[in-house]
Amino acid sequence: MSGQLVREGYSGTGPGAITPDGCAVELYTRLAVGDEPDVIEAAVPAGASILELGCGAGRVTHPLVERGFAVTAVDESPQMLEKVRGARTVCAPIESLDLGDETFDVVMLASFLVHSGDHRVRDGLLRTCRRYVRDAGVVLLQREGADYHTALPRERVHPAGCTTRIVSSEPVGDGVRSVRAEYEFADARWTQTFLSRLLSKEEFEGYLDAAGLRVDRYLTDDGVWVRAVPK
Ligand SMILES: C[S@@+](CC[C@H](N)C(=O)[O-])C[C@H]1O[C@@H](n2cnc3c(N)ncnc32)[C@H](O)[C@@H]1O
Repeated sequence: MSGQLVREGYSGTGPGAITPDGCAVELYTRLAVGDEPDVIEAAVPAGASILELGCGAGRVTHPLVERGFAVTAVDESPQMLEKVRGARTVCAPIESLDLGDETFDVVMLASFLVHSGDHRVRDGLLRTCRRYVRDAGVVLLQREGADYHTALPRERVHPAGCTTRIVSSEPVGDGVRSVRAEYEFADARWTQTFLSRLLSKEEFEGYLDAAGLRVDRYLTDDGVWVRAVPK
């Protein structure tokens, strides 16, 4: 799958397999998880069934499984999914995911995927969220913070020995920016270039609305994590 699917404007460099959206598989096995599992756990019922869209190498999946959630982890990269443990895995583009009439207590679309540069892809991602969430269920999304594209370059040094850098964000037209990120370890270096559509709160909520979802509440003060529900 990852050899054939091309996502224009998305690329990556560095050792090992690179996904169609430019993520390095080995990098995502090395990156430590942050407070994501805490935010998620506080927003959903204990033991919920979770459909995690764009799970990568299981960085967030694994702590969720450890906390007793039943996770179905979806990614279009088979190499990413090979790293996932303790969850059911499904290899597919999120936009065309077909799980029949199965539904979940929680559907998660994290990692800023909602900022896709392509309107059709974003609409497809949100349609998938609505299709697979129970009527009484919850959709959790992760948006870019207000300062994501400003104050550049910015750098963060992680305790596990990784330096992450957002190097640049250049407009490429139609409200879309091309973002370049770098990840440096003592023994390896990766880059990712990806497209990001700027989304005001109003635009974000409008796209959710078009997909049959509405914001229930913003979970974090920075407005990054969002709890949405079916309309
Ligand atoms: C930035 S990584 C984040 C992985 C994981 N959520 C994490 O936080 O560690 C994004 C992942 O989403 C997957 N992905 C991106 N767009 C996708 C799509 N449209 N369909 C399926 N997988 C997608 C990529 O293959 C990659 O593994």
